[in-house]
Amino acid sequence: MSENATHNIPLEETRQGEVLNLLEATNGNGNKLLYLESYGCQMNFSDSEVVASILSEHGFKTTREIDKADLVLVNTCSIRDNAEQRVRNRLTEFKQYKRKNPSMVVGILGCMAERLKKNLLEEEKLVDLVAGPDAYRDLPHLIDEVGTGQKAVNVLLSREETYADVSPIRLDQGGISAFVTIMRGCDNMCSFCVVPFTRGRERSRDPKSIVQECKTLFEQGYREVTLLGQNVDSYRWNLSSKGEIKNENEPTVNFAELMAMVANVSPMLRVRFSTSHPKDMTDEVLHTIAAYDNLCKYIHLPVQSGNSEVLTRMNRGYDRATYLDRIKAIRNIIPGCAISTDIITGFCGETADEHEDTLSLMREVQFDYAYMFKYSERPKTLAERKFEDDVPNEVKTERIQEIITLQTQHSLYWNQQQIGQVQEILVEGPSKKSEAQFCGRNTRNAMVVFDRGSVQKGDYVKVQITDCNSATLFGTLIS
Ligand code: 5AD
Ligand code: SF4
Repeated sequence: MSENATHNIPLEETRQGEVLNLLEATNGNGNKLLYLESYGCQMNFSDSEVVASILSEHGFKTTREIDKADLVLVNTCSIRDNAEQRVRNRLTEFKQYKRKNPSMVVGILGCMAERLKKNLLEEEKLVDLVAGPDAYRDLPHLIDEVGTGQKAVNVLLSREETYADVSPIRLDQGGISAFVTIMRGCDNMCSFCVVPFTRGRERSRDPKSIVQECKTLFEQGYREVTLLGQNVDSYRWNLSSKGEIKNENEPTVNFAELMAMVANVSPMLRVRFSTSHPKDMTDEVLHTIAAYDNLCKYIHLPVQSGNSEVLTRMNRGYDRATYLDRIKAIRNIIPGCAISTDIITGFCGETADEHEDTLSLMREVQFDYAYMFKYSERPKTLAERKFEDDVPNEVKTERIQEIITLQTQHSLYWNQQQIGQVQEILVEGPSKKSEAQFCGRNTRNAMVVFDRGSVQKGDYVKVQITDCNSATLFGTLIS
């Protein structure tokens, strides 16, 4: 675990659903100490900032020293089995701190809390408190319940909760990039996915509160926001009823319109978003990205498989041809746009030929980056009920290795294409390897490392790209 991990975690790490991060902050206005750890997706990191905010109103300050904490919370991920195993191991480790400090309260938040409900509390006795993703406002009350010796559980899912009125406490003080949640839950029911069960029904957040949050972030010095939702293309807010769409003729704000509203906060604020869905991504969204310089030229469009029958079994709502049509639309409307994807290998019944189709789609699209996973069966999902997880682990391992090898070639190809270009980079700070070098991202979300010069974190600088490997671009500062 990295003690110094910041909140601005590279996409590639957070999407794995397995990376652990310690969140720390010095703000908050009380004398009780909260130690907060987050696993999994960007949404969890964003939620942890909401949790820190709610608890700061109730006397908690965050700490990075677990042995001093009055309250230890772990925000968890259920997307794959190994993500859950890591959290279980961590919860077992917490027992030793609790032995030393019996009044310390240990709580579990997020998807595992929702999925396992009382089990962790009653059968395994790993925690004192369980709160699902829609129950964070209830945390102060749940903590009080633990204090009176009761079992503290709230895993109720809501159709309305968006925490729109909670100003998240940013857990990376002085950061330049922040996550802003624009919607919660998912209605898609992809057959492999546990998210609809753990995060509930899809609901959009009031655009006014989103724009206000982005304005505040900009005023505080942030220069990049990432708009978060499980399926941002289905963002929709009814302006008359303030939320749910009841009548199709009523005025609404859709995702393209929301992006334009956020882009207009300032041309100096970069806007990114995640995640798009191939069945819902409209040309209107693409034209909006093309129209604003500060809407970053990078789209994450999970394909999952290159074979149409597998996509049907996955209940994805599109086939190979439709996916390729969306790629063509991106390349026509936003020339130079980077594209990344998610791929699952070894899904139920995947044949060698079906796997070949994934490789051939990768060759056809040439993704800039891919997040690649072996299929992990999740309880209660459609796939678990309907299909057999019948691809042996050795075969999954062989297939993922082929996919990774091919993707590395494509990532290198795209990085090589950028050598010689002068690019605008938003400076994030010292590079991982050396204080003498700084790093930042270009609009395509590629990391660029260059000699520090006299630039500051948060500056926009021009860098000429001189070299690369498959993961990083290297360049020379020219302004
Ligand atoms: N097994 C493996 N990968 C999964 N994902 C979601 N559910 C599973 C699962 N059961 C991957 C998908 C999704 C990403 C966030 O995680 O590729 O897009
Ligand atoms: Fe899961 Fe599919 Fe929803 Fe993504 S769109 S969260 S993969 S159900």
